[in-house]
Amino acid sequence: MSVGRAPGKVILLGEHAVVYGEPALAAAIDRHIQVSVEPADAADAPDAFIAIAREAGWTGGFSVRIESQIPYGNGLGSSAALGVALARAFKPGCSVEEAARLAMHLERAVHGKPSGVDPAVSAHGGVIFFLKGAVERVGGSAWLCVLQSGIERGTKTTVLGLAERRKTDPVIDRSIRSLGELARQGRSFLELGDLRGLGKAFDTAHSYLRDGLGVSCLELERAADALRAAGALGAKLTGAGGGGAAIGLARDQAHAGEIAEKTGGFAVGIGS
Ligand code: PMV
Repeated sequence: MSVGRAPGKVILLGEHAVVYGEPALAAAIDRHIQVSVEPADAADAPDAFIAIAREAGWTGGFSVRIESQIPYGNGLGSSAALGVALARAFKPGCSVEEAARLAMHLERAVHGKPSGVDPAVSAHGGVIFFLKGAVERVGGSAWLCVLQSGIERGTKTTVLGLAERRKTDPVIDRSIRSLGELARQGRSFLELGDLRGLGKAFDTAHSYLRDGLGVSCLELERAADALRAAGALGAKLTGAGGGGAAIGLARDQAHAGEIAEKTGGFAVGIGS
């Protein structure tokens, strides 16, 4: 039996913009998927699993057992983590870059035309600055509260819907550039430990995602408002939107725990 493990993630800043060549700032979270792969007579598995297995050099059939701590359909990177964990199980010792590349088979099946940020952060861990496929590790650390909106959704429909609206709405491209700029600024804030600045960047990014890109929804607005009302330094939707989760920035671990208690979310630490 061969085991592979990989973490979920949150996008701190730059979701959607990253699909159009802007940067994103993303962080692995301490919620994991573990897969166990065993040789079997047949490979009765999704095509993407088989594609990962074959490219990883696994020749025969296989059976897969999946154990997940990452809520599905919440923008917390469950499909990317599954892809990275599969790559690691099929090819123990594979490099970070290779794990991220193999995981793209599953991302493409689930997301349509993914930027690649999700598998990259799951494979690298920590916090990354992702720009056009290139990954830079980012220093600094912070505590967040993740609050699920209660609405599950698929990334594909949100991303493709935006691509369609973008053809006729010039506000979208302007918002995308602003979101990319916020990801650049957010990186500096995190590295400098400027949590006030990072919190403001969260709030501003959320406004662009809601008003410019139109990817928020009532339940996400409620989640972001609840995080702010509970004392978050800033809050935003994370991932594709249209449902999924919101994140609120906390001052420290205890503060993240307090916000989690008040809102029903959960606290996560990011970075080194
Ligand atoms: O899967 P999600 O919800 O984390 O969305 C991924 C982030 C997007 O920027 C919306 C899409 C992408 O491929 O980068």
